[in-house]
Amino acid sequence: MAKLWEKSQGKRADLQAAVNRYIVNDLAADNILLPFDVEASIAHAQMLSEVGLLDTESAQKIITQLRRIPELHAQGKFVIRQENEDVHTEIENFLVQELGDIGKRVHAGRSRNDQVLVAMRLYVRHELQQTKKLLLATADAALQFASQFEFVPMPGFSHMQHAMPSSVGQWAGAVVESLLDDCRVLDSAIALINQNPLGSAAGFGTALPIQRERTTELLRFDRVQVNSLYCQNSRGKFDAFTIAAMLQVMLTLGKFANDLVVFTSKEFSFFKIHPELTTGSSIMPQKRNLDIMEVLRANVSMVQALQLQAQSAGMNLISGYNKDLQNGKEAVMKTFSITQESLRISALVLQNLEPDEQGLARAFEDKEIFATDFVNELVLKGAAFRDAYKQVGSNLGALSKVDPVQNIKSKTHLGATGNLALDGYRKSINELNATMK
Ligand code: ARG
Repeated sequence: MAKLWEKSQGKRADLQAAVNRYIVNDLAADNILLPFDVEASIAHAQMLSEVGLLDTESAQKIITQLRRIPELHAQGKFVIRQENEDVHTEIENFLVQELGDIGKRVHAGRSRNDQVLVAMRLYVRHELQQTKKLLLATADAALQFASQFEFVPMPGFSHMQHAMPSSVGQWAGAVVESLLDDCRVLDSAIALINQNPLGSAAGFGTALPIQRERTTELLRFDRVQVNSLYCQNSRGKFDAFTIAAMLQVMLTLGKFANDLVVFTSKEFSFFKIHPELTTGSSIMPQKRNLDIMEVLRANVSMVQALQLQAQSAGMNLISGYNKDLQNGKEAVMKTFSITQESLRISALVLQNLEPDEQGLARAFEDKEIFATDFVNELVLKGAAFRDAYKQVGSNLGALSKVDPVQNIKSKTHLGATGNLALDGYRKSINELNATMK
């Protein structure tokens, strides 16, 4: 069967084949979109029958055939062929093949432009929710780690230099809170994309009396995306925003990963990781490399590049559909896959990580890390901070011994090492979990 828009008599099939080879660069993406296009097509057919554009019997037949497709696809019996251009065409051709003239009736009041838009919305909504689930599981793993080692002292750094006493609880708690903020970013992405572009057709609506409110309801969107032209114009923006939301997650994980690459090194020896999570060297028998966290770190840059790919594909285009937008699909999908795998591996790391108590204790042998605390002690006794600072600074060699555990417990304002308020994170995780659909 042919493409939907076939015009030529096929005299220069070689030219058509060359065109297809070049423009059909998104079959992998369309295979992922397939169940979502089916879902949207079912809603569309149902709506068409309700408004009288399709008789009930034909609609039923179309819906029955549509429902077969995901299963056939999973069994390898439904293949999107390059010569058919895209998943939308392949599905329509299948309906015609199975139902003859009835199959042709489903495409009234829509265009592939709004089909791909609505399929992407459904896909992105689903994946954002999956990502949210994984994120909350990772936050939970980080919270358990933070609680278990809440009062294990760990040096805090600024400018890569010892700064002040911190704790494993504070370090891991920072990961939890960062992830929880990222979760709110995911929620805002869900709120943005959960609007229905179906029925905007090619970008200019249709003369047929379709009911966009009905497909909105059937597909469980929050609202109709109203302006038909804006539906098209929003595609690149929404793709970029979706990736930007993922990038926030990746930035959190990237910092966590980089910290671990450094903190598990011999020089630092702050943490020990399960050896089976490390890799070896082909030449140096002693090596235990934390490849997973290095790859994660590099994946942050990858997502950044994908954001640029999607954003620039949709930029500087005249209003309406432009084929450039097609490239956004791959960028969004690759981003989901990277982000979700990064969340999974991070949770696994957190579950197989422990503080190296000896290495951490060694880091407190140099008493200078307590210098600021001595200044504050003088302030508490009534000295002006500037004077106390000078006094301690000029006698660094004379600092007395401090118990690091007592030190970190003594800082009790909200968010300090002695008052990390980890229970609050437990509450937030539970609340955010409760919003999962
Ligand atoms: N593969 C296309 C895309 O992702 C589907 C829409 C095709 N529309 C068109 N007017 N050629 O954008």
